Amino acid sequence: MLLRLSKYDLSRRDPRGASCNLRGAGLRTAAGVLLLLAATGLRGLEITLPIETTLLRESPLEGYSLASSLCMTCHSSDYVASQPRTLPPAFWKATVLKMKKAYGAPIPDSAVDPIAAYLEKTYGPEPAPKISSKS
Ligand code: HEC
Repeated sequence: MLLRLSKYDLSRRDPRGASCNLRGAGLRTAAGVLLLLAATGLRGLEITLPIETTLLRESPLEGYSLASSLCMTCHSSDYVASQPRTLPPAFWKATVLKMKKAYGAPIPDSAVDPIAAYLEKTYGPEPAPKISSKS
């Protein structure tokens, strides 16, 4: 934008002298833009990313480390954690396969079952509360 503006203004030669005004305006604009760049651009951009708070739930199961390295590259664990806890175990295996086949997640065949087992145990249905008859 800046380059195009000044090129246009400088190359324009109007015999009636109008080019002087045009050029003056162009140069003033260019100087203004440069000042603005100097004021804002030279400090450099500092970007602080939020701390990752949505990690997968820890587990001693083999699938935990596999899922942590293979499932968190495209989205956070929110996608996993926000699934209803009433889903049948088959849902998790189907989801892992869907990530692999439909979305191209680089998940080796040998990791599919361990990851599905980990998800099923960790994010599957809660065990039914025990009802004690003595009280
Ligand atoms: C290649 C990128 C990629 C990887 C790696 C990946 N996913 Fe996904 N995932 C997606 C996309 C894309 C969606 C759909 C997003 C949407 O619909 O908004 C999704 C959605 C989901 C959902 C929401 C339910 C659904 O079916 O849409 C779950 C649960 C999920 N992923 C779990 C996983 C698990 C578990 C892994 C590891 C085995 C994984 N993802 C790895 C891309 C990926």
